[in-house]
Amino acid sequence: MGWRAAALAVLQAAGTEEKCAAAMAARASSGPEPPLAPPARPARPAEPPLILPRDAPRRRLGSVEGRIALLHALAHIELNAVDLAFDIALRFADEAAAAGLDAQAFVAEWFKVGCEEAAHFLMLDNRLRALDARYGALPAHDGLWEAAEATADSLLARLAIAPMVLEARGLDVTPGMADRLAAAGDFESARALETIYADEIGHVAVGVRWFEALCAVRGLDPRETFAGLVESRFRGRPKPPFNAPGRRTAGMGPDYYARWNDPCAAPADRR
Ligand SMILES: [Fe+2]
Repeated sequence: MGWRAAALAVLQAAGTEEKCAAAMAARASSGPEPPLAPPARPARPAEPPLILPRDAPRRRLGSVEGRIALLHALAHIELNAVDLAFDIALRFADEAAAAGLDAQAFVAEWFKVGCEEAAHFLMLDNRLRALDARYGALPAHDGLWEAAEATADSLLARLAIAPMVLEARGLDVTPGMADRLAAAGDFESARALETIYADEIGHVAVGVRWFEALCAVRGLDPRETFAGLVESRFRGRPKPPFNAPGRRTAGMGPDYYARWNDPCAAPADRR
């Protein structure tokens, strides 16, 4: 199977086991292949039902129900992340090649990200099962795929919003969640989040590297370009407090996000 067909197989797999198995089996190869377009929406299991973010249940981690709600929300994010990685590869490899970038490396790196996202989903799904729950049993929100649809026309916009805003937000909040899970006595789930956190630094780093490479070939200033894309392509604003050490390890220095550190910087920040 060629790499384009392998990426499409992930996106078209509806079941979680089927999708994760396809992600882990996918290999980025080179060679001529007919073009294949990614679907506008990847296939997903019939459950969970999708709801508006504001209707998502609150999570109090002291109770088992609260931990299940958190792990369920994170599993949903990871399943979205599997699709996002293969969608970036399939949707934008030709744009990367046309820009003079190494499209084979581009595809290989996003395939590796997608494989790790599948491992994250399976880890969280295992934790849910250990707590007598399962993925799909609670509602989840569709914010991640909405962000993907809003950036379906531009690799630069997709890189700015998916890895550099949304995944970087994961770096900000995951260590605190792991601490709270450990404080509640759920050390297994805390360990899963620590593994996920370490991998996600690498995922943000992949995003930053390709974003900066594309800015370089187009003669764009990466920080200014990032700020402009966040303003024009993202509904919210990056929210402090930021995890400066984690972001720095991922190659994202404070000059990328310092403008959102000041709560008085812009009226839109006051929420
Ligand atoms: Fe992940």
